[in-house]
Amino acid sequence: MKKVLFVCLGNICRSPAAEAIFLSIVAAKNDQSVLIDSAGTSGFHSGQLADSRMRKFLELKGYQATSRSRQISLHDFDEFDYILVADESNKKNVLSLGNAKKEKVFKMLDFSIDHKGEDVPDPYYGGDQGFSLVINLLEESLNNFYQFIKT
Ligand code: 4NP
Repeated sequence: MKKVLFVCLGNICRSPAAEAIFLSIVAAKNDQSVLIDSAGTSGFHSGQLADSRMRKFLELKGYQATSRSRQISLHDFDEFDYILVADESNKKNVLSLGNAKKEKVFKMLDFSIDHKGEDVPDPYYGGDQGFSLVINLLEESLNNFYQFIKT
């Protein structure tokens, strides 16, 4: 079993989107050997569903985000094999928790061809196009990430 955790600040926009998209990629391969979760570096939105705008744009492309926000914990570094963060700020915060496990930490776009290593822009304070952009960026990189964990 490979275990993958997606992390952003609030765990209501970018990481639940990554979780929903990667669940769909793995399901399309009929692959039962990947466990997927998401968390936030903050607990600001703990217990909440993903942002309704993010859920709307995900549903338009056939994805469903059903998870509820939770804050990352030190235990997650033992539990998960891969921790994929949305941006540099998340990376800094995650490494400050579990610096000894830094080989597990990647950025969500590290596997992108066109946007390799870039931040996933935070859509929370912006308009609708920001949500679609997040989905498009994640679809490309996470398809490549699936190949990465399978080879
Ligand atoms: P996320 O977006 O990190 O992609 O879930 C945000 C959600 C909430 C806030 C910031 C970013 N906030 O400040 O409440």
